[in-house]
Parts: sequence; C-alpha cells; structure tokens
Amino acid sequence: MPVVAVIGAQWGDEGKGKVVDLLSPKADIIARSQGGANAGHTIERDGQRFILHLLPSGILTPEKRCLIGPGVVLDPDAFNTEIEEVKSHGINLDHRLIVDNRTHLVFPTHKLLDNCQEEARGGNMIGTTSRGIGPAYADKSARRGVRVGDLLDDRRRQKVCSEIFDIHTRMLEKVYGQEPPDKDAFLQNCEKWAEGLRPYAGNAVEELHIALDNNQTVLLEGAQGTYLDIDLGTYPFVTSSHPTVGGAVLGIGMPPGKIDFVLGVIKAYCTRVGSGPFPTEMDAETAEEIRKCGAEFGSTTGRPRRCGWLDLAAAKQSARWNGINGWAVTKLDVLDGLEHLKAGIGYQVRGSVITSSPSTRQEWDEVEPVYAGLKSWKNCASKRDINAFPKTALDYLGTIEKFTGVPVSLISVGADHEATIMPRGDII
Ligand code: GDP
Ligand code: IMO
Ligand code: MG
Repeated sequence: MPVVAVIGAQWGDEGKGKVVDLLSPKADIIARSQGGANAGHTIERDGQRFILHLLPSGILTPEKRCLIGPGVVLDPDAFNTEIEEVKSHGINLDHRLIVDNRTHLVFPTHKLLDNCQEEARGGNMIGTTSRGIGPAYADKSARRGVRVGDLLDDRRRQKVCSEIFDIHTRMLEKVYGQEPPDKDAFLQNCEKWAEGLRPYAGNAVEELHIALDNNQTVLLEGAQGTYLDIDLGTYPFVTSSHPTVGGAVLGIGMPPGKIDFVLGVIKAYCTRVGSGPFPTEMDAETAEEIRKCGAEFGSTTGRPRRCGWLDLAAAKQSARWNGINGWAVTKLDVLDGLEHLKAGIGYQVRGSVITSSPSTRQEWDEVEPVYAGLKSWKNCASKRDINAFPKTALDYLGTIEKFTGVPVSLISVGADHEATIMPRGDII
C-alpha cells in the first residue's frame, strides 16, 4: 500500500489541506512532520469550513489515525484550542491522534521573541506568522528545547520549563528591553498544557513503522512550501523547517525509500505571504483582481497574500528537489475569465537566462522573469470532467506538464471536494 507525500511546491498555501482531506478516506494514517501553527490548512466540506494549524488534515475523516511527528514544533495552547474546536463539531478523537514525545514545544515566550526579533530586523523584516516558529526551532537546534515528553514528566517538568523560561526572559529583558512575563503563571500553564497533551502523547514514529510493517497507506502532509525551506528557499525570507520532501520523512522517522509517490501541490498562479523575493509578482491591479477572486488572505494571520503569475521555472526546480511524481494544480477556476494570461519560464540574470533557482540572495534580488504568453479561458469552475475543459485551459495544463516534465494528477477548480478532477485516475 502506498506512501504518498503531499508537498507544497511554491511559497505555501497551495491548497495542501484540501488535497490531504480529499485523499484521507483512502489512507490509514495521515502525518505532519514539520512546521507548527504557522500553517493554515483550509478544508471545506459539508458546507463547513475548517482551518487546521497543527492537526493533520485527515482528522476530519472518521476513524483515520493522525500523527504529529518529532519534526513539528507544537504550541500547546494552539493545540488545545484546535482539539476543542474539532471536538465541538462532533469529531471523535479517541485513539486517533498521537503527538510524538520528541516533538518540541512552542511557548508564549517564543512568540514574544518572534515579535521582538521581527521588530529588530526593521526593513529586513521576514513577515513571520508571529507563531514563535523561528525561536522554537532555534532552541531545538541549540539543544535546550522542551519536548512533549519533558512536559509530561512530573519530576522534570518544573525544572526544564523553568530553565527555558529564564533563558527567554533574559533575552527579552537584556536584548530587547521587554518586561519579563510572569513566571508563576507560566509554570501553572505548563501543568495545564501537560494535562491537555497527556491523552495524545506517545510514540508516533513507532506507530508509523507498525503501519508500514502492516502495509498500510500513509499520507505525509507537508506544511509551508518549497521556497520557504530553510536550506533551499529564499533565505532569510523562509521558515525555520524543511517543507521539502526531506523534511516530510525526517520529521516522522521514515526512511526516504518508503515514499511511493510525491504529489506536488501548485496553484495555477503563485502567492506569497510576508517579505522576500517573488520574481513573478503581478502588478498591483491584477494582483488585486486575483486576490479578490481567489480569496487570497492568509489562513493563519488574515494578511493579504501577494499574488504572482505561475512560475514554471520555480515549479520545475521544485519538481527536481522533491522528486515530484505528479502535480495537484489548484485554483484553476480563479483564472477563469482573466483577459491576459502569462507564466514565468525562466529568469534573466546578468545577461543570461536561467531556469534553475538562484543560489545567492543577490541573484534572487536581481532576477527578472522571462514570460510566455498563454491563452485564457472563460470557465473551468463548473467543469467536473477533463473532456469538458476549454481547450485553452487544457493547453495551460499541458504547458505545465511539458515544461516541468511532471504529469498533472489532480486538478482543483473549487475549494470543495467535488470540484476536483483526477485525469489519470486515483492517486491512492
Ligand atoms: P494550504 O495551506 O496549502 O492548505 O492552503 P490554504 O488553506 O492556506 O489556502 C488555500 C485556499 O484556497 C483555501 O481557502 C482553500 O479553501 C482554497 N482552495 C483550495 N483549492 C481551491 C480551488 O481549486 N479553487 C478555489 N477557488 N479555492 C481553492
Ligand atoms: P501553509 O502550511 C504561507 C511564511 C510567513 C513568512 C515566513 C516565515 O499554510 O502553507 P514563520 O512564521 O514560519 O517563521 O514565517 O514563512 N509562512 C507561510 N506562508 N503558508 C504557510 O503555511 C506559511 N508558514 C509560514 O508568512 O513569510
Ligand atoms: Mg495555508
């Protein structure tokens, strides 16, 4: 039975939540391996809209087991809120969710530090989600982070939580001149968070391997997108984890060779939230049109998303880095009726045209996109059969396939499940 990794191939918000939710009925296990509550995965089903930040998008499908791996950084407040919200919709979570004991925690002081660090960056502000992601991964790398297992250990909780709190307050006071938060209140909250997490904490990695040993179907749900990868993305305007396929396996302890299919999710255009290079960014007027039509506002922060033309060069590179076997092209409907359509097919930099992604910050700043004009269409939104698609829309998809060398496995023309076409048959 297959292992499918669903990976964001642009700058995040490609529609991973919809795709994972759609594929979940055929999976046994759905796992998150990286990122934290910076993610916002939207699912529209049965007339309801859910935005999940930490829980895998398989959680809405009854009886499916969901794992949160050691590569995730987990905000216990956000986790509890999400658990309560999901439960309030009558979703039963008993024996369905395991958070690995090794998963690192995000505390309120991480969020304060995130904001202070952003402010200190001034004009070089990353535009983070303020969810404490960078500081939490920094503590993890510095080997002083607090993990779920530490929080649940009644003998160690007070000590480890107190230590990290003291480090954070020193930084807040001495570096950023902030009033320290109340330590007693923090330690009391640690008790509360421990109780909230206790029913779900366990060995998610072992659970995954038992599933693999039993030939079960596993969906790995990527968060963020390839160009936000800390190593491969537009550094420093990136997140602090690996949204590429390596992060999907590493963060749950899966050997890379177990993956059968990498489904790369791209929008039919591009968006980006926060600062940083975005070569195919549209002019303000067209961006406004797309933003309105595609409801391009952040699922986590509500910020307006920057909008750009489809960057085929970036998609091609993403396909190579992630070993993408098939594309899920989402939001094709948003381009319905747009008069002039184009896609980036490379970058002009210092007199030559490249299709690979720049490796220096300077080059990212300098690249000028090279475009190919493409024919527009009137209506994809109402189509449910590939044979009913306008020829020009099929040509658009064909251009994606030809340019990137990767077939289109899924086309999404609306937020709802039924607005999906799988032109090459089922993925799972
Ligand atoms: P994710 O972070 O990759 O899961 O994506 P987000 O949920 O942040 O953003 C994608 C948005 O597009 C959500 O509001 C989805 O409901 C919506 N969406 C997904 N697929 C489609 C589609 O094909 N057409 C339209 N119009 N909306 C879509
Ligand atoms: P999903 O999973 C889009 C962006 C932020 C910022 C940068 C660093 O919904 O696709 P961070 O808070 O991670 O330190 O912010 O990364 N970012 C996302 N953009 N979708 C996301 O997640 C994102 N998660 C982080 O806007 O530019
Ligand atoms: Mg999102």
